[in-house]
Amino acid sequence: MNQKIILQSRPNQTASLDNFRYQESGIESLQDGQVLVLNRWLSLDPYVRGRMSERKSYAPPMALGDVVIGEAIGEVISSNSHLFKTGDQVIGMLGWQTHAVMNESSIKPIASLAIPETWLLGAAGMTGITAWIGMMEICEPKNHETILVTSAAGSVGGIAGQLAKLQGAKVIGIAGSEAKCKYVMDHLNFDQCLSYHAADWQDVLKMSVPNGINCLFDNVGGNVFDCLLEKMSPFSRIAICGLIAEGLADHFHQINLRALLANRILIQGFIVSDHISRWREIQNQLVDLLLDKKIHVDEKITEGLKNAPQAFINMLEGRYFGKQLIRLS
Ligand SMILES: NC(=O)c1ccc[n+]([C@@H]2O[C@H](COP(=O)([O-])OP(=O)(O)OC[C@H]3O[C@@H](n4cnc5c(N)ncnc54)[C@H](OP(=O)(O)O)[C@@H]3O)[C@@H](O)[C@H]2O)c1
Repeated sequence: MNQKIILQSRPNQTASLDNFRYQESGIESLQDGQVLVLNRWLSLDPYVRGRMSERKSYAPPMALGDVVIGEAIGEVISSNSHLFKTGDQVIGMLGWQTHAVMNESSIKPIASLAIPETWLLGAAGMTGITAWIGMMEICEPKNHETILVTSAAGSVGGIAGQLAKLQGAKVIGIAGSEAKCKYVMDHLNFDQCLSYHAADWQDVLKMSVPNGINCLFDNVGGNVFDCLLEKMSPFSRIAICGLIAEGLADHFHQINLRALLANRILIQGFIVSDHISRWREIQNQLVDLLLDKKIHVDEKITEGLKNAPQAFINMLEGRYFGKQLIRLS
């Protein structure tokens, strides 16, 4: 029996529990080239909210009634494929369900690495590679530069900031509470962190960046982005990674083009899936850093598929630190 969470309705501004429905169904029989995977770990990621909506984006929306999309790790328990055998550990878009019938071309064997397998869904997987592309290839932090990272206690932001620290930059985080900021400084080694809920955060930041911000790694957009844009230095870079603060609405920013021109600012949006061909190369570098304990990782594990919708909403609302995962079996 497959247990799954399906998309029941579309969210308005943000996701709510009634957008999801738990369902049980039989497991379809395997065609040639297909395998049955018993899912073990499910990654919770903000992009799922975008795919729940019908608005145009870089990837098509889910249809109502579809199993909610999500990357997961599992074990092949039945195979009609020459490429996979029973017992193989695999990763792919297995979805919010306990069992997934997958085409052999849409899953990958799990690389045998000396790290916990869950990190393949986080710091050594999509999360870490996103942080790497935005920080190492768009921000390109240099010694003594000042780098700013939003959603600094989150899974992408936390790694992005640590990568900048490793390049010798001064790294300032923005996060949603004093407790998160303490975590960001004590565990992720950022130089400073400010809560965007504090009334004076912009004044404090202004004093901390007398020469401006050399790169902004932005995960949130919204009003926080507008405040930071004013503080960019000449020849600075902005990596637009995510817009979690904007929900599903269009948020139009007033950008002062004269300031962009005068300061020669580069703004670059990026999507990690455009860099699939570089996955293994970047992953290897991240694994080395993780094994050398140069990157610190925290995970919040929630038990059981039925709790995935609430855990997903909690993640969007910023209740936890680090990478959010569901243990399925
Ligand atoms: N471009 C790509 O290819 C790519 C790939 C992966 C992820 N992303 C994006 O990267 C961002 C981070 O992803 P993640 O997986 O690491 O998630 P995350 O940062 O671990 O979790 C989401 C966090 O967003 C923050 N947040 C929520 N609402 C906010 C608001 N109104 N204003 C400011 N912060 C808010 C919350 O932290 P606080 O408590 O600090 O508010 C929450 O913990 C997301 O925007 C995601 O869509 C992009």
